[in-house]
Amino acid sequence: MTDLPASRRTTAPAVSAAKGSDTPLVMVTAYDAPSARAVDAAGVDMVLVGDSVAMVVLGYEDTLQVTTADLAHHVGAVARTRPGALVVADLPWMSYHVGADDAVRNAATLVRAGAGAVKLEGGRKRLAAVQAILDAEIPVMGHLGLTPQSVHAFGGFRVQGRDLDAARAIVDDAIALAEIGCFAIVLECVPDAVARLVTDSVAVPTIGIGAGRHCDGQVLVLHDLLGLDEGRTPKFVRRYASLAADATAAVERFAADVRGGRFPSSDETYHAADAVADALRLYDGSAAEHAPA
Ligand code: KIV
Repeated sequence: MTDLPASRRTTAPAVSAAKGSDTPLVMVTAYDAPSARAVDAAGVDMVLVGDSVAMVVLGYEDTLQVTTADLAHHVGAVARTRPGALVVADLPWMSYHVGADDAVRNAATLVRAGAGAVKLEGGRKRLAAVQAILDAEIPVMGHLGLTPQSVHAFGGFRVQGRDLDAARAIVDDAIALAEIGCFAIVLECVPDAVARLVTDSVAVPTIGIGAGRHCDGQVLVLHDLLGLDEGRTPKFVRRYASLAADATAAVERFAADVRGGRFPSSDETYHAADAVADALRLYDGSAAEHAPA
């Protein structure tokens, strides 16, 4: 954990107040109880139950396939571990695009599942939804740059803000989100100069992913940093483990032990009391005697 208070649960206001701290904020995704326990035990500041669950856990090609009910299912699993980290839940595609009432109801579903804050994608065009959710007393984290819910509009998963107009638009979106009351803003896949200008322009922390070092914090998808997905990873991912390879090797050893008669051992077996075992052996014998030839 950073400079945030260690003795109690991390809150959105505490994250917001960490702007300007010398120690960057740390956020990592988790989608179930074991992964939530692992990232919380590592002392991260925020656990993100991201809509990336669609791609890294559920096997979809984009994040557009998951619903608020899907996210609530995963938020519940994470929240039941009672992490010290702030649980941030993604509002999925179409949960805040149709109207502010919908946005509030869907955000409330995620809070009732255990989230302490919600995250949504987009800038000035989402201000009405952000305002309505904030009015319902739910902290909102913004998300700008490569917003994966816009994959079709962007024509793919591409770095955003490369030209001056696009960069300026991201900065203006960030200023609008911060001014309306977002407690932090994720910046995904933007050039580092853009991230730096955003970070210097807003009074709330920026949390980067593929946005370089000039952010107030960093976030990675757990499965990427653990090497749980052997597929192609973007250049901003640093792998700290190779768990997919470790998992395959472990299951290969299990299969070899089963096939070689080495599993289970006597220690891995429940044994009956001697008298019961003897009686069972007698019974086996008499059963064999009466078996048809
Ligand atoms: O869903 C997610 O994992 C995210 C991160 C990439 C920030 O939104």
